[in-house]
Amino acid sequence: MAEDLQIIKGTKAEQYEALIPQIKGLLTGESNLVANLANTAAALKEQFGWFWVGFYLVENDELVLGPFQGPVACTRIRKGRGVCGSSWEQARTLIVPDVEKFPGHIACSSLSKSEIVVPLFKEGNIWGVLDVDSSEYNQFDETDQQYLEQIVALLA
Ligand code: SME
Repeated sequence: MAEDLQIIKGTKAEQYEALIPQIKGLLTGESNLVANLANTAAALKEQFGWFWVGFYLVENDELVLGPFQGPVACTRIRKGRGVCGSSWEQARTLIVPDVEKFPGHIACSSLSKSEIVVPLFKEGNIWGVLDVDSSEYNQFDETDQQYLEQIVALLA
């Protein structure tokens, strides 16, 4: 496995297309979940430079902070709370163009302006979420949804 990530310039789709095989390479032959979540978060952060990229993992009725890249963050989020807890409860990806307009948004940092949260499914059950935050408004769209859903499917 190559430990150097090749950073690509281009459209968002081109960046994801170049990144996904590299994430597959990072995951191949490694069964440790923390290692795989950590490298996935790092690869996304390195390629896109987002403010915060990380995982929250289901533990009973809460999400608990997992591997991430970025500033320190809230450790526990209840089901239905914030963007992460809402994505879990609604079992779907949520795109939030302006976090201040999302009722109940949990502001781990006032620098976060837009957000996408993608649930992690295994055999129909949600075991966590991928949370990506940007310091700019309107940074996430269906392209991110489509590719990030592909990436988290590699982690199941
Ligand atoms: N903003 C998230 C909380 C997690 S942090 O952004 C890292 C939310 O509303 O669920």
